[in-house]
Amino acid sequence: MTDKVRIDSLDATSNANNQTYLARQAEFESNVRSYPRKLPLAITQAKGVWITDADQKEYLDCLAGAGTLALGHNHPDVLQSIQNVITSGLPLHTLDLTTPLKDAFSEYLLSLLPDKGKEYKLQFTSPSGADAVEAAIKLAKKATGHSGVIAFSGGYHGMTHGALSVTGNLSPKEAVNGMIPEVQFMPYPNLYRCPLGIGGDASVKALTDYFENLINDVESGVRKPAAVILEAVQGEGGVNPAPAEWLQRIRKVTEEHGILLIIDEVQAGFARTGKFFAFEHAGIQPDIIVMSKAVGGGLPLAVLGIKKQFDAWEPGHHTGTFRGNQLAMATGLTTLKILKGQNISEKVAQQGEWLKGKLAEMQKRFPVIGHVRGLGLMIGIEIVKPNEAKDQLGCYPADGDLSALLQKKCFEAGLILEPGGRHGCVLRLLPSLLITNQELEVFLDKFEQALLAAGVKPVV
Ligand SMILES: Cc1ncc(COP(=O)(O)O)c(C=O)c1O
Repeated sequence: MTDKVRIDSLDATSNANNQTYLARQAEFESNVRSYPRKLPLAITQAKGVWITDADQKEYLDCLAGAGTLALGHNHPDVLQSIQNVITSGLPLHTLDLTTPLKDAFSEYLLSLLPDKGKEYKLQFTSPSGADAVEAAIKLAKKATGHSGVIAFSGGYHGMTHGALSVTGNLSPKEAVNGMIPEVQFMPYPNLYRCPLGIGGDASVKALTDYFENLINDVESGVRKPAAVILEAVQGEGGVNPAPAEWLQRIRKVTEEHGILLIIDEVQAGFARTGKFFAFEHAGIQPDIIVMSKAVGGGLPLAVLGIKKQFDAWEPGHHTGTFRGNQLAMATGLTTLKILKGQNISEKVAQQGEWLKGKLAEMQKRFPVIGHVRGLGLMIGIEIVKPNEAKDQLGCYPADGDLSALLQKKCFEAGLILEPGGRHGCVLRLLPSLLITNQELEVFLDKFEQALLAAGVKPVV
């Protein structure tokens, strides 16, 4: 197309394809790069839930920037909001100085917090979820005078030192010494693979009692922590929604003991789970809410919601150059207004139930689908070995190898999915929240195609 600006450095006649770009990327970038290893493409175009690669192949994108692109790719209103900033004369970046746009964004975001945000203040941090987690942990320590943190197995909070310290996944931790001290991990409820080997409601009760006992027990060996940090629906950990009664008791116990409850809504927030925030499923109010990803409408932004009585910061005690990205506030504001104004949570909740029903039907034909779970458009499909012996809870062993093969076959079929959970055995959906039912049907077709291409035989 003549009106498109060529933005690559390659010669226009070079016919660069995926392989050209991937080879150059491998030459330019560190070994740390991860997604291109499983999704070997160079993206040239993106619209809604669809992306096109340098070989002109189209994919249904059910990853959406790890859930960042709540309205999908290049939503016209989001693009227009960028244009508006560019032509308004506003600066692009302001440290933490205010502007009329920041003022409007702050007022609107606060209005979405519990009780319309009356009890909360905002803190803009550096724009990654991990930095917001760092700020939340530091603030909890400062506000309480305590130093420990309780985190949960399977939790994911980011890759900076503090955030990694409270993250469950051992793989990125193995070679990094000197995690932050006094982090105590506790088991997180898992509806399929109960960490206590009990299962069902009894398991939720036992986990809840265990948590309460640890906090109350003067022989627990765990000093009273500054904070408890958790995701109300674990994302990277394999899409595990926390039962409401467990969350409610954690809220009650932390409140009684003056321990700050930090809820990380970086992935599950902003209508993703069928409520505006995932903690709303339990009707609780966190002391600190960690927000990133969708809050910036696709551009980098991270914000904390802090209960006013815990705003213990001294000026400048957590700073960061990039706290004032005006474009991200514009795209964030537009995104939040669409999500709220069009009641996208309700649509997402209905679609999630419908999709889980369809996947449950597929599970009957393909027993390698061990468990389907999640809320709204945060869905996980756990892949298992149905020909091996079940454990005492009746679950087959997880099959990370087949899950990896399925991701590959999905990719070949034009479907982008992301694995997560222990050994990557859970295939996860985090599509645009504007995905239509018709597009979800395409997902189901492609997923079934991938199962067959991976050599999985249907049983009926
Ligand atoms: C729940 C949760 N918290 C924190 C983070 C870290 O965010 P970032 O990658 O922007 O540092 C993530 C990233 O996936 C996340 O899912």
